[in-house]
Amino acid sequence: MNSAGIVTVSYIAATILFILALGGLSNQETARRGNWYGITGMGIALVATILGVVSRNYTVLLVALLIGGSIGLVLARRVQMTQMPELVAILHSLVGLAAVLVGFANFMDHSTALVGVEKTIHDIETYLGVLIGAVTFSGSVIAFGKLSGRIGGKPMLLPARHWLNLGLLLGAIWFGREFVLQSAAGGGMTPLVVMTVIALLFGIHMVMAIGGADMPVVVSMLNSYSGWAASATGFMLSNDLLIVTGALVGSSGAILSYIMCRAMNRKFIAVIAGGFGTGGGTTASGAAVEGEIVPIQAEETAELLANAKEVMIVPGYGMAVAQAQHTVYEITKTLREKGVNVRFGIHPVAGRMPGHMNVLLAEAKVPYDIVFEMDEINEDFPDIDVSVVIGANDIVNPSAQEEPNSPIAGMPVLEVWKGRTTIVLKRSMATGYAGVENPLFYKENTRMLFGDAKDSLDAVLKAL
Ligand code: TAP
Repeated sequence: MNSAGIVTVSYIAATILFILALGGLSNQETARRGNWYGITGMGIALVATILGVVSRNYTVLLVALLIGGSIGLVLARRVQMTQMPELVAILHSLVGLAAVLVGFANFMDHSTALVGVEKTIHDIETYLGVLIGAVTFSGSVIAFGKLSGRIGGKPMLLPARHWLNLGLLLGAIWFGREFVLQSAAGGGMTPLVVMTVIALLFGIHMVMAIGGADMPVVVSMLNSYSGWAASATGFMLSNDLLIVTGALVGSSGAILSYIMCRAMNRKFIAVIAGGFGTGGGTTASGAAVEGEIVPIQAEETAELLANAKEVMIVPGYGMAVAQAQHTVYEITKTLREKGVNVRFGIHPVAGRMPGHMNVLLAEAKVPYDIVFEMDEINEDFPDIDVSVVIGANDIVNPSAQEEPNSPIAGMPVLEVWKGRTTIVLKRSMATGYAGVENPLFYKENTRMLFGDAKDSLDAVLKAL
C-alpha cells in the first residue's frame, strides 16, 4: 500500500474510533472507555498526518508540537474542576483561531493554482472557514471571560442590537461576494480582512449580549461552531478526517445546545439573539422576598437526616467549589446503612458545564442507580422528608415558576420546597450565577446551614 492508502486507512480507523468515543461518552459506565477510544483515534490521526501528509518543515512542526503539547499538559494538570468550563471555552477559541490562521495561510499560498469553478468553491470554503473561525474565536474569548468572572455576567444590550447583527451579517455576505470576485482576479485580501474584523465583532457582540443563566447554551453552541470551523478547514485543505471530525463535533454540539435550550425552556434563536437573563427591565435580582431565614446547625441536620425515610440530595456549583463530593458519598453511605433511601436529583444545568455534577459524583463513587435526572424525580418531592441542597441556587429557585418577570422565568427547576424540610448549604445569602434572589431560603420549611459545604458536611458526617 502506498503512503496515501495508509493515511486513508488510518483516517477511517480514527473516524470509527471517534464515533465509538462519542457513543461511549453518552453513558457514565462507558465514559472511560469512550475517552480511550478518542485518545487512540487522535493518536492515530496525528501519527498518520505527520508521517503521511506532512512532507517537509519537520523541525518547525516538532517544535510547535512540543510547545503546544507542554502547555496543554501543564494546563490539564493544574486546572481545578471548577475551572473546567472556562478551560473548555478557551480551547474552543484556539480551534477558531487555528481555522482563521489556516484560512489566511491557505489563501496566501499560491503553490496549487486552481481555476474556474474549483477556485470559486475553494474561495468560498476559505471564506466560510475564516468567518466561522473568527466568530468562534472572539465569542469563546468573551465566554471565557464571563465564565471565569473576568467579565461581568450581566448581558450587554446595545440599543439597536438586532439591526447591528443584521448589518454585520449583510456586510459579511457582501464582502464574501467581493472576495470571490477579487480573488478570481488575483486579489481578495482586503475583503477577507474586513470580513474577519466583522466576524470578530459579531462574536464579541453575540456573547456579550447573553445573560448569566443562558451561558450553558452559549458554551455548547461555541463548541458546535468550533466543529463547523474545523470542518470548513477540512474542506479547504482537502482533509477528509478533519471534515468528518469537525462535523461530529459540530453536530454533537448542536444537539447539546438543543438539549440545553430545552432544559432551560428557551428558544435557541432567542438565546442567540441575546438579552435573556435581563428580567425585561426590572432589577436582575427580582422582586423583594418576604419571610424569615431560619439557620440550622450540623448536629440538628444529622438528626433530621438520620430520622428521615426519603432523602433527596440536590448538588450545585457550590459542591464543586467546596470539593464536597467525597463527604457527600460518605454521608450517603452512612444513611443508606441506616436504611434511609437516599437519591440525587440532578438539574441539567447544575454547576458550570453539562454533566458537571455527574462527573463529580462518579469521581466520589456514588452509585449511578441513585442519581436521577430532574425529569425523573421532580414529581417525587412531596414524598421527600429531607432535601439537602448543596451549594445550589438558581436550579432550585421557585421564582422561575412564580415570577413572570424574573430573569430565569420559565426555566424548569427542582421543586425541593414541596418536600417536608429543605436544608440549604451555602456560605452566605449571596445570589447564584444568574444574580437572582431566591425565595426558597425564606420559606417556612427551609433551614439554612451556613458555611463552606465541605466543612458543614464534615460536621454532619461526624454527628451522624
Ligand atoms: P449557582 O446558582 O451559581 O449557585 C451556587 C451557589 O453555591 C451560590 O449561591 C454560592 O452561595 C454557593 N457556594 C459557592 N461556593 C460554595 C462553597 N464553597 N460552599 C457552599 N456553598 C457555596 O449554581 P447552580 O444552582 O448549580 O446553578 C447553575 C447556574 O450556572 C445556572 O444559572 C446555570 O444557568 C449557570 N451555568 C451553568 C452552566 C452549565 S452548562 N451547567 C454553564 C454556565 C452557567 P454562597 O456564595 O453564599 O456560598
